[in-house]
Amino acid sequence: MERINYKLKVSSSLSHLYDLRSPLEIPFRASYQDCSGELKRPSPAAMGPPPDTSKTAKIDRYNSYLGRLNSAKLLAASSHLLFRATLLTAVVLLLFLTLQSPLLPFSSSYSSSPSPHRSLLTSLSSSPSSPAGIRRSATPRHPNGLSVLVTGAAGFVGFHCSLVLKKRGDGVVGLDNFNSYYDPSLKRARQYLLARHGVLIVAGDINDSSLLAKLFALHPFSHILHLAAQAGVRYAARNPNSYVASNVAGLVSVLEAAAKSADPQPAVVWASSSSVYGLNTDSPFSELHRTDRPASLYAATKKAGEAIAHAYNHIYGLSVTGLRFFTVYGPWGRPDMAYFFFTKAILAGKPITIFRTAAGDEVARDFTYIDDVVKGCLGALDTSQRSTGVAGKKTSPAQLRVYNLGNTSPVPVSRLVAILEGLIGVKAKKNVVTMPSNGDVPFTHANVSLAAGDFGYRPTTDLSTGLRKFVKWYVQYYGIKLKEGVGGGDDDKAEGASKE
Ligand SMILES: NC(=O)c1ccc[n+]([C@@H]2O[C@H](COP(=O)([O-])OP(=O)(O)OC[C@H]3O[C@@H](n4cnc5c(N)ncnc54)[C@H](O)[C@@H]3O)[C@@H](O)[C@H]2O)c1
Repeated sequence: MERINYKLKVSSSLSHLYDLRSPLEIPFRASYQDCSGELKRPSPAAMGPPPDTSKTAKIDRYNSYLGRLNSAKLLAASSHLLFRATLLTAVVLLLFLTLQSPLLPFSSSYSSSPSPHRSLLTSLSSSPSSPAGIRRSATPRHPNGLSVLVTGAAGFVGFHCSLVLKKRGDGVVGLDNFNSYYDPSLKRARQYLLARHGVLIVAGDINDSSLLAKLFALHPFSHILHLAAQAGVRYAARNPNSYVASNVAGLVSVLEAAAKSADPQPAVVWASSSSVYGLNTDSPFSELHRTDRPASLYAATKKAGEAIAHAYNHIYGLSVTGLRFFTVYGPWGRPDMAYFFFTKAILAGKPITIFRTAAGDEVARDFTYIDDVVKGCLGALDTSQRSTGVAGKKTSPAQLRVYNLGNTSPVPVSRLVAILEGLIGVKAKKNVVTMPSNGDVPFTHANVSLAAGDFGYRPTTDLSTGLRKFVKWYVQYYGIKLKEGVGGGDDDKAEGASKE
């Protein structure tokens, strides 16, 4: 009986997913189940006692009573049989779906911050996440094309890199956990656009080593572009462990898979950050400068990442390139970054907070346009040498590099605001305060001569041009109408910018 009760529980807990009950089963269960869930056969007493009149009439009535009793028994027995058959079919169907579902092997149970929109995500990614779908997405169009696993592909930089790689003919598979650090619907909109270009994003976490092993077993990726991370400097005060989970443990998980699960080992290009320069005051920042004084936990995890990368290169012969991005901005950008939330606040007529240093100086950033950063990422991928490890063992020294990817011209935040005011056609309500000591540094300034020399990195987009493209995308994406004569200019509509 316990077994039957268990099956009943299984079937009802799944009823919101698939209605496994036959239409016949519903009334059957209603009328023949007692409150303990036990299945009952109707008792003769329930049919009423035989009436006592004349003998013949008595026999007739008794025969008819027996007939009714038999048909009731027959009905009960057949209903019982039907119920068991339905349950059996349901269990078999469930087993079949579990074994056949293309999504299950590639959806992670771990999520540092579960997305409230997981069901939509599942429906978006369920069918193409079959092994065949993953292989299709991973396979380059040309024999010499790269095959790149892009972690953080639903993120700002990952989205742009994936799109450009795919467009030039490389194979790309994304991996992202769609966490809710910022609006996950923006990540899903990026995923949707990538899907339209034939790039599949597997929903999963970089800490899920069995998922990574499965991906490498499915396809021999030539490169990993590892961009998944917990970004943002200030959020570390609220959720420090998310930085350790994604930027330290997650990086180790990715490098472990690259070193030990993948055959052949891929070359790894990953995102470090300009924040590793921390309290460095030499300017412009060069890769030769000190990076042992991080000013935030975020910076410390990126610095730890560079040390971890060194160890995996040294022990396993992994080819590893770290890229130190400098304040990347542009269309499809990150809502937690100043240029993005300033735009939102200015449009809403809300005040914005601008920081000054304790000495009263302006805070400045080497704002780098997304297209320039994408070129840098592709340059690093294209010049990566092969890893040298075989079966988890290094056979010879492997390439280990680190590069600044910046714009080489820091701009004060007040200038950023002035450009946005001009583009939006609204004056910002500014609230100027002294910068709190929560991890931000007063200025950043990149020296990019190393990247220029090794793969021709040359940023070409100034802040006004880049912000114009950003504002144009922003108003299209969020469906905002600007005053006549202001906005993003005459460029073509940003791809996929409309939410509709
Ligand atoms: N944007 C910048 O200005 C900037 C500057 C310096 C460094 N970086 C670095 O560049 C990389 C990309 O940054 P971005 O601006 O695109 O950030 P982003 O937050 O838009 O993208 C990161 C993506 O990684 C995913 N992710 C996070 N943790 C994950 C995990 N454990 N498993 C799977 N997916 C996970 C997120 O869902 C997100 O989609 C990050 O490593 C970031 O630290 C960015």
